[in-house]
Amino acid sequence: MKPLSVRNLDMVYQLPKGGSVHALSDISFELAGGRMLTLLGPSGCGKTTLLNIIAGFLGPTSGEVYLGDQKITGPSKDRGMVFQQGALFEWLSVSKNISFGPRMAGKKAAEFRPEVNRLLDIVGLSGFGDKQVYELSGGMQQRVALARCLANDPEMMLMDEPLGALDALTREKMQGLILNLWNDTGKSIVMVTHSVEEALLLGDTVFVMAPRPGRIEKVYELPFAKRALTENSRDIKNSPEFIEVREEILSFIWEMEEEIMGREMA
Ligand SMILES: Nc1ncnc2c1ncn2[C@@H]1O[C@H](COP(=O)(O)OP(=O)(O)OP(=O)(O)O)[C@@H](O)[C@H]1O
Ligand SMILES: [Mg+2]
Repeated sequence: MKPLSVRNLDMVYQLPKGGSVHALSDISFELAGGRMLTLLGPSGCGKTTLLNIIAGFLGPTSGEVYLGDQKITGPSKDRGMVFQQGALFEWLSVSKNISFGPRMAGKKAAEFRPEVNRLLDIVGLSGFGDKQVYELSGGMQQRVALARCLANDPEMMLMDEPLGALDALTREKMQGLILNLWNDTGKSIVMVTHSVEEALLLGDTVFVMAPRPGRIEKVYELPFAKRALTENSRDIKNSPEFIEVREEILSFIWEMEEEIMGREMA
């Protein structure tokens, strides 16, 4: 898998009625191929903006992003996106959602059908191919979204709070699914989450971002994602070393939130 290289990114949104928002300031980092990066930080610190720039949906005000030696100038099937919810095609069946990319690429049914079945199996939805999207629970819909993303065989999967709308139990199961997908496919993943616990369990690299202007404040390299492939994730979350990092990040984010609230009240 190719490395991601983010170089001196700045993003300033110009507001229609004048004024501007400095959403990202001088963001630079290198991420080796096959890593799982999770992005944490208070609301408005630029997580979605950063993800959208990597996806190529947004052009930065200055700076550059490379995947391997390819400069990112727009969307491409080598970078697949999974959104929080509601991004499936409601009028298509599960199979047709998953095969959307291959069909757009001109592949014939005989070519992609075995692959769709394999993906349904991977995300635990064998036998659900002919269902309509509205017949599925929220967790099942997110499994379809993951499968649809994988169908394009991207180098890198980008996920913006993919589990944010799910109940706690489904969310834990989906965390396990994402970890296994990551391990089995070897793909790079960049995932935004509001859950500190989730970021620490899934991220072998974690960025804690700060707002105004959005920047990377802390970087962690963590062992928990690899451990969770073989150990019980509940036990990992309850281990002293996990709790120590979790509490450190939680108090850091709390302080940032309090400072923001204080500034807004003043
Ligand atoms: N299209 C836009 N036009 C103007 N300002 C924007 C636009 N999109 C985002 N912003 C602003 O840029 C900043 C970063 O927004 P962004 O959506 O990237 O934050 P975020 O970290 O994803 O927040 P959240 O956790 O709430 O999803 C915020 O101040 C936001 O108001
Ligand atoms: Mg966001």
